[in-house]
Amino acid sequence: MNEFDKISAAANFIRSQVLASPRVAVILGTGLGGLVSDLSVKSTIQYEKIPYFPVSTVESHKGRLVVGSIGEKDVFVLQGRFHIYEGYTAREVAFPVRVLHALGVETLIISNACGGMNPLYRRGDIMVIDDHINLLGDNPLIGPNDERLGPRFPDMSEPYSRKLISLAEAAALSNGIRLQRGVYVAVAGPNLETRAEYRFLRTIGADVVGMSTVPECIVARHQGMDVLGLSIITDECFPDALQPVRLEDVLESAAMAEPHLTTIVREVVSNLVV
Ligand code: HPA
Repeated sequence: MNEFDKISAAANFIRSQVLASPRVAVILGTGLGGLVSDLSVKSTIQYEKIPYFPVSTVESHKGRLVVGSIGEKDVFVLQGRFHIYEGYTAREVAFPVRVLHALGVETLIISNACGGMNPLYRRGDIMVIDDHINLLGDNPLIGPNDERLGPRFPDMSEPYSRKLISLAEAAALSNGIRLQRGVYVAVAGPNLETRAEYRFLRTIGADVVGMSTVPECIVARHQGMDVLGLSIITDECFPDALQPVRLEDVLESAAMAEPHLTTIVREVVSNLVV
């Protein structure tokens, strides 16, 4: 079966299970599953049930599609995402974004945990992604291009919507949340970086480094969706004072910042004109 038909099959299945038709979707990253407790949940579908959906292998990622509402607006929440380091291709990682678009989603909010390399950033800070660098060594658009999904050479002059960045900044400001704004570089992982790698990544213009988000953003832009990226800085990656990072610390920082992230997402969604 070709990819277009797989996308349609997955979308049709979800449509058969869900009454709402959200225009907004949120992808939750490492340790950020709690946003769901802020939703009024209408239905939940395990990823395994959705035809052709990949299955999440990381323990801190749950693996279900939640349909709920934030205020007046219906949203899809992908609780659990897929990574290159699990063995998926970038195309597979971004498959759920194809399905969301087929379901009518026009705005995609992507969250993640990342390491902060900008010396002004602190663990627990949130950064709105202004731009990205793809060092995954893969791209979800490699292979034949289906013109029904998007163009062969999509533009990347505004990967993250300026309008959504402004909404996020306004939400942060009105709630007294410090919001950084910067460049996210994606690497395959799964190991964290060496000191020399952090130095290199900082030098090429990145403020934070992580192992996700970029495949989903590229596919969303390929289809003309608006993207907002929000990163939680879970560890400080300063090469001259580098401390070992433990997964517990990453999850703890994500938990610390989560209420702030939730506030920003809630306000952005409420203020969206869709
Ligand atoms: N590097 C890459 N990915 C990450 C990091 C990091 O330091 N912290 C959380 N995700």
